[in-house]
Amino acid sequence: MEFSTPSLAPENVKAAALAVGVHPDGRMSPAAQALDDASQGALARVLQTEFKGQHGSTLTLRYLPGVNAERVVLVGLGKAEELTPRRYAAVAAAAAQALRACGGKDAATALLEVEVPGLTLEQRARQLAIAARTAEYRYTTTFGKPPAAEAAGIQKLAVLANRATAAKVRQALREGGAIGEGMNTARELGNLPGNICTPTYLAQTAKQIGTKLGIKVEALERKQLEALKMGAFLSVAKGSDEAPRFIVMQYQGAKGRGAKAPAPTVLVGKGVTFDSGGISIKPAATMDEMKYDMCGAASVIGTLQAIATLKLPVNVVGLIPACENLPSGRANKPGDVVTSMSGQTIEVLNTDAEGRLLLCDALTYAERFKPARVIDIATLTGACVVALGHVNTGLFTADDALAEQLLQASRQAVDPAWRMPLDDEYQPQLKSRFADIANIGGMPAGSVTAACFLSRFTKAYPWAHLDIAGTAWKSGGEKGATGRPVPLLVNLFLN
Ligand code: BES
Ligand code: MN
Ligand code: ZN
Repeated sequence: MEFSTPSLAPENVKAAALAVGVHPDGRMSPAAQALDDASQGALARVLQTEFKGQHGSTLTLRYLPGVNAERVVLVGLGKAEELTPRRYAAVAAAAAQALRACGGKDAATALLEVEVPGLTLEQRARQLAIAARTAEYRYTTTFGKPPAAEAAGIQKLAVLANRATAAKVRQALREGGAIGEGMNTARELGNLPGNICTPTYLAQTAKQIGTKLGIKVEALERKQLEALKMGAFLSVAKGSDEAPRFIVMQYQGAKGRGAKAPAPTVLVGKGVTFDSGGISIKPAATMDEMKYDMCGAASVIGTLQAIATLKLPVNVVGLIPACENLPSGRANKPGDVVTSMSGQTIEVLNTDAEGRLLLCDALTYAERFKPARVIDIATLTGACVVALGHVNTGLFTADDALAEQLLQASRQAVDPAWRMPLDDEYQPQLKSRFADIANIGGMPAGSVTAACFLSRFTKAYPWAHLDIAGTAWKSGGEKGATGRPVPLLVNLFLN
């Protein structure tokens, strides 16, 4: 999708559809007012009758007199004084869906002018681009006959801007477009079924993206993982016939090579391409959703894709331990003791707490990059969904400065995250009678003890953990991956 930033009077915009914002009680944004003037009050009449400007609602009008755009999409902003970054993002998403539904190849939006406390002009532009880009995504890959024909989608989006700020807005649109593309990559990988999106498939996808964008990608195989003594990761992998992969993606955008290269940020993504629970098997009802248990991995791939597309001047390493968690004659059994790459032994009291077994070895492997910071992203615990629902990603770190950086990126990206506790007092829950540490900490504070488990493997660098179990995908009628937290992560590197 191509973005442009014309500074035109709204009534002069030539496009298949133009989105403008309106508030309740007939209050119009400047662009809506301009269209109303040009059409001799046609908009005002609509606002008296069928469109009330309710937040997130839309109404498409056709062929307004005096207006060049073929369609005008009215977008409900809700009350001006109630606008927040979240509500603006929802407006951007609703507008993008409505513009796409118009079926034209070119669209325009006048929503950049809508001011929102807590969002800069550039941040609003990014939201508009993210919304436009993600509205294009459809899952079609595994249908025998493609779902009912739909228009090809919008190829050009004009974002009305002032001449003075157009260059800044164009850059922000480029950034938002790359974030949206990264999210779409993450969504597609998440949505693909487990029999297609295997560890091997994840590795191939990472390689394809790497080749295209100049990211170095290798995928370690079982033999190499054995040589590295990744006993925790391999104990999960060995329960499945599907070959594991440990994917290493290296993007060097910062100046300086060799000893002069700035220390990288390492992103570690949980890549369980299907989590049955193993011998501690899960109930059948919603087990299909455990194909999404690689969404952390997908977010790392999507984030690196966006960063490399934008050629950001940063060094980032992506690490993805990928395997399946299945029951078999070779699977972990409750009570088994395995030895992690760090040398610490782990009593596997529940084979369904497998994510931490993959991640702990990846966190040890991360040490070789002498990282400035390590952030892992994982659909780690059902307990995090209980605590935070589907709104906030759980953020766990003992490092206040890193917490603040991540929360700031979260706010700027409108990709909500909430800091959770990580007090030492939770650590005793992980005591084992038969190993250095147990892989579960009992019922209380399940998402916290999962983070505590990971913390034992992160002594060599500043570290944060994002539990995306509640935010990586949606269940029910709109089942599908969300692409979160790609926006949060990319913002971290934009800053
Ligand atoms: N992948 C799951 C976590 C999960 C469950 C994410 C439901 C999203 C929705 C993880 O591997 C898991 O099974 N965790 C267990 C841990 C428990 C055994 C301590 C859980 O949350 O039940
Ligand atoms: Mn599990
Ligand atoms: Zn899992």
